[in-house]
Amino acid sequence: MTSRIEWVAQSCRLLNAISSEFAESQPFAGLTIGTGIHLEPKTAALIMTLATGGARIVATGNLNTTQQETVDYLRGRGIEVIGRPTSDPEEHDRDLREVIAAKPDLILDNGGDLFARYLEAPWEGFKGGTEETTSGRTRLTPLRDELNVPILVINDSPIKQFAENRHAVGQSVLESYLRITNRSTGGKRVVVFGYGSCGQGVAANFRNAYGLVTVVDTDPLKRLEACLDGFDVTDRDEALRAADVVITVTGHRDIVLAPDLALLKDDVVLMNAGHFPQEIDVPAFLGHADVESVADAAEGLQTLRTRDGRRIHLATGGHMANLAGPRPLGNSIESMDLGFALQVRCLEAIALGTVSPHDVVVPVPRAIDEAVASSYLELVAGARR
Ligand SMILES: NC(=O)c1ccc[n+]([C@@H]2O[C@H](COP(=O)([O-])OP(=O)(O)OC[C@H]3O[C@@H](n4cnc5c(N)ncnc54)[C@H](O)[C@@H]3O)[C@@H](O)[C@H]2O)c1
Repeated sequence: MTSRIEWVAQSCRLLNAISSEFAESQPFAGLTIGTGIHLEPKTAALIMTLATGGARIVATGNLNTTQQETVDYLRGRGIEVIGRPTSDPEEHDRDLREVIAAKPDLILDNGGDLFARYLEAPWEGFKGGTEETTSGRTRLTPLRDELNVPILVINDSPIKQFAENRHAVGQSVLESYLRITNRSTGGKRVVVFGYGSCGQGVAANFRNAYGLVTVVDTDPLKRLEACLDGFDVTDRDEALRAADVVITVTGHRDIVLAPDLALLKDDVVLMNAGHFPQEIDVPAFLGHADVESVADAAEGLQTLRTRDGRRIHLATGGHMANLAGPRPLGNSIESMDLGFALQVRCLEAIALGTVSPHDVVVPVPRAIDEAVASSYLELVAGARR
């Protein structure tokens, strides 16, 4: 496993170039960065780059996605990693609070978990930080006045939108479906809930794999866009009745609910790709009066058998399928290298005080987007010429 962490590290060409620069410039010298991010080989490359820039890092993982090998790798290199892989929200809460107890100067957040806890007891000298996700932006936007420090939202960079969310999430969710179920896609009716940048990539990748894709979105503009992109756009109940595969990727909770059990046909696969494991109401499905039994079907798959004899397969307990289940690889290295280069450059700008204190929960500054895009074109695309 260590060799995969090293494979990822040497494939992160942008982070490697930044690390060489940081070894000299030390933008985080004397600063502590607190993070609660998926701990897997790609984030190890991110964390090691920040450490090369002089930061003390205090890190914990996210619910159900922490990989022990990565934790061991980081601890072996002097990174303070709190906790262990867990899917217990209370244990995870304790780990996040331990990161906050270190009173970091900067936070690299993923879902708004750390910034929300920082607000419970703010401390002097806190400089701000970055938020990785759409879900985090939604959670932190109403808290702007209270936060009152620069917070740059990586997800809102156009680079993140097209390189990671559209291209990479789409590919890795398809890869995860194939890996976890070992089933085909051709001719299967695949229903994608959410046609944001992630859902667009998921829908396109399943169509490219010969799936018959239906899009469900609450936003009429997104439904129109999906329609013009050539997808079937129907009412959610009708879509669920026909589905062979259901994928939620909305960033909102309660998308597929207990009453939907009656609509689902035999042998359907339910999978979530949204950040939090709340899009499919798993506890309600597992405890449903019409469910006769629940059994582990294969690694990363549970089968719920209904009293009328249908089998409903649930992937990775409703957790983000591309970072859970057997041998989870997550998004492509190149896409994460781009996103993490944005992360590192944004944290550097906040550490150096070049971001306005009024930039609270705002997108990545255009100059950083342009610098990262140019580096990729030069270092990665240029290498192919
Ligand atoms: N799996 C991954 O690797 C990965 C990577 C990046 C982001 N994400 C997560 O994926 C989720 C979606 O991200 P995004 O950037 O596409 O978000 P987005 O906000 O761009 O799109 C979400 C879409 O879902 C729609 N929606 C909201 N409620 C709905 C409902 N009840 N039914 C149907 N559609 C509904 C919205 O109208 C919107 O079009 C977030 O949770 C994000 O954190 C996952």
